[in-house]
Amino acid sequence: MTQALALIPDEFPLLSAGQFVLREITPSDAVDWHRYLTDSRVSEFTSTPDMSLADVEQLIDTFTNGFHSKTQIRWALGEAGGQKMIGDCGYNVFWSRDSRGEIGYQLSPDYWGRGVMTVALSTIIGYGFARLKLNKIEATVNVNNERSATLMRRLGFQLEGTLRDYRNRRGVFGDSWFFGLLSREYVDRRAD
Ligand SMILES: CC(C)(COP(=O)(O)OP(=O)(O)OC[C@H]1O[C@@H](n2cnc3c(N)ncnc32)[C@H](O)[C@@H]1OP(=O)(O)O)[C@@H](O)C(=O)NCCC(=O)NCCS
Repeated sequence: MTQALALIPDEFPLLSAGQFVLREITPSDAVDWHRYLTDSRVSEFTSTPDMSLADVEQLIDTFTNGFHSKTQIRWALGEAGGQKMIGDCGYNVFWSRDSRGEIGYQLSPDYWGRGVMTVALSTIIGYGFARLKLNKIEATVNVNNERSATLMRRLGFQLEGTLRDYRNRRGVFGDSWFFGLLSREYVDRRAD
């Protein structure tokens, strides 16, 4: 079960990620978020159930409450100076006693293949190690998702194993790769 992490600040952390910003998700993001969450090019690789716009509005409430209870942080990846939400990433779960957090991420297909998520995840990983004092960050990736696995490896994550029948993908159980990155292994490459 997810646990509260006392180091999560009261005010939502606004971060800069290259030409994009990482900001709080608000109710006005529901349409943008719903559009790419339900795009088959995205849902093919995620375990998110089919979602209506009302479900996405509910999800935004869940993440808002998760932030205020210090159990989750989900950032919207937004255009700097604009309202559009093009992706999202964040910590779904924290295990505070073990200083561990699990990340999740997805990007509108219009923006794939430009290194956008590499920059976004580098930013929140750096934040997780430096500000939240995490010792380990982990992610599970569906075994058909080579693009996501490549991203994990690029960021220094190690494949630690395969979890059998780990996710229910809209009615079909599927295996997941388990990736982990330790604080002592992390190299911040954003300045390279
Ligand atoms: C997985 C996902 C987030 C990757 O997004 P992305 O921004 O394309 O990922 P990256 O940052 O790794 O970009 C890599 C691509 O950008 C290119 N690139 C350009 N500039 C780059 C840079 N400065 N740094 C890194 N890559 C760069 C790479 O060559 C690579 O191109 P390729 O895909 O043609 O090989 C996206 O495909 C997605 O949302 N998929 C569906 C949802 C999903 O799978 N979520 C994860 C669940 S575990």
